[in-house]
Amino acid sequence: MTGALDVVEARPEHAEAMADVIRRSFGARPVLDPPSSAPQETAEAVRATIETSGGLLALRRGRPVGALLYDETRPGLLGLRRVSVDPEVQARGIASALVGVAEDTAEERGKDGVWIHVREELPATVRFWRQRRYETVGQEGPLLVLGKTLWLSRELPDAESTQRFAGTLAGLLQAGDVLVMTGGLGAGKTTFTQGLGEALGVRGPITSPTFVIARNHPSLVGGPALVHVDAYRLGGALELDDLDLDTSVEDAVTVVEWGEGLAEHLAESWLEVRLERRLPREDDPLGTAVEHEGGDDTRVITVRPHGPRWVGVPLRSTLLA
Ligand SMILES: Nc1ncnc2c1ncn2[C@@H]1O[C@H](COP(=O)(O)OP(=O)(O)OP(=O)(O)O)[C@@H](O)[C@H]1O
Ligand SMILES: [Mg+2]
Repeated sequence: MTGALDVVEARPEHAEAMADVIRRSFGARPVLDPPSSAPQETAEAVRATIETSGGLLALRRGRPVGALLYDETRPGLLGLRRVSVDPEVQARGIASALVGVAEDTAEERGKDGVWIHVREELPATVRFWRQRRYETVGQEGPLLVLGKTLWLSRELPDAESTQRFAGTLAGLLQAGDVLVMTGGLGAGKTTFTQGLGEALGVRGPITSPTFVIARNHPSLVGGPALVHVDAYRLGGALELDDLDLDTSVEDAVTVVEWGEGLAEHLAESWLEVRLERRLPREDDPLGTAVEHEGGDDTRVITVRPHGPRWVGVPLRSTLLA
């Protein structure tokens, strides 16, 4: 059966149809200087790429309307090439569907992120990727290199594993990093921060900063300080002055509990860290009843990178190991 839109893994016998979609898609773009080679794409070249790295084909009611090819030349990353949509069926979510499946493929292949080359002269194309949180990583001639680090989620069976997880994350952190933490009362945000502080080698103890907004924990090992903020009672957006500390965001690792919607602007980039209790229940197969009291200690942690700082950082391979 063929649905309205199907995205399937490319097989060698798709090469002809995919080369045709690629030629038509790139042929409809304005002529660039230097010109792209895509309007001359051959079925042989597409077949060779399908056989080595793979790709995706999008079918609309069974008819080929979209294609992309994978590139495995950069270690730890999945490259997307020739992202193409038939010019006659633009603006129907075909490119988004292709990119969504490609990011899933990157996860399945154990990659930390995805990259793509984009022509700077095509602002609509650049915007398409920006809206999907691709960040500029570099420039190669007329090509922008855009990249995105994939988010991750895993279960933490007890408080010790939450602290160990935070300790592993600490190995990826540097001065200037901001962690925006979410999760209900007692979800484990402070427990997580203790694991972070331990691994960073800062002066403790790290406790719930109930009556102060923020505490500064200086490093004992010549590294960045840990600034621990609790925004629970904060009425509006966190201002740097609120911290009232003798260290700045640039010189510390800053962790903000209850920071969602309040602390994202503290720096250009931040890590969203979400802790949730999740008891799998038979009457709740989708796990939507997230918050429960008591019982199982298991938490689900989700780490989602925002901003250019995290591009190229091996979050998944480090934190899921
Ligand atoms: N898997 C787990 N991860 C983290 N903490 C856990 C876990 N299982 C049990 N706990 C316990 O749950 C409690 C979490 O308290 P904690 O103060 O860290 O939460 P919090 O999110 O900071 O709460 P608050 O919103 O009040 O600041 C601790 O007593 C901890 O030992
Ligand atoms: Mg807390």
